[in-house]
Amino acid sequence: MKLMILNGPNLNLLGIREPDHYGNETYADLINKIKNYCNEKQIETDFYQSNHEGDLVDAIHRAYFEKFDGIIINPGAYTHTSIALLDAVKSTSLPTVEVHISKVEEREDFRQVSYIRAACIKTITGLGTDGYLRAVDVLMTNGKEAN
Ligand code: DQA
Repeated sequence: MKLMILNGPNLNLLGIREPDHYGNETYADLINKIKNYCNEKQIETDFYQSNHEGDLVDAIHRAYFEKFDGIIINPGAYTHTSIALLDAVKSTSLPTVEVHISKVEEREDFRQVSYIRAACIKTITGLGTDGYLRAVDVLMTNGKEAN
């Protein structure tokens, strides 16, 4: 199994940005954590982070053309604005899990909308970076794992 893990704008600043919301782990820590978890399960991973919407669209297309089995995406603020990311995931039909480190549903009104959610098999929020590991579990079980 081969998973693409995508992170959107400002997630490269994990560990620096708003630790009350996003914790103290860095982006490098996040990657190591996911890699270790996936290695144990013999899952291949590819990571990509960008602050640019179109680059994230391209990465979703690449996941399709390079025959990945699923996508884990934290689109950052593009969650709340981007129809292009929604359309990209819909276009590939790859099983995709939306992850948010913070509990977005308890934050500002403008964070209550997620465009990409409509194309995702599951959304995980508020588990910190462990949410990405939960997303791996979801993709391993085709979304059939207990909530
Ligand atoms: C986030 C939540 C978004 O609202 C925010 O814009 C982010 C990070 C999260 O992981 O909790 O950049 O996706």
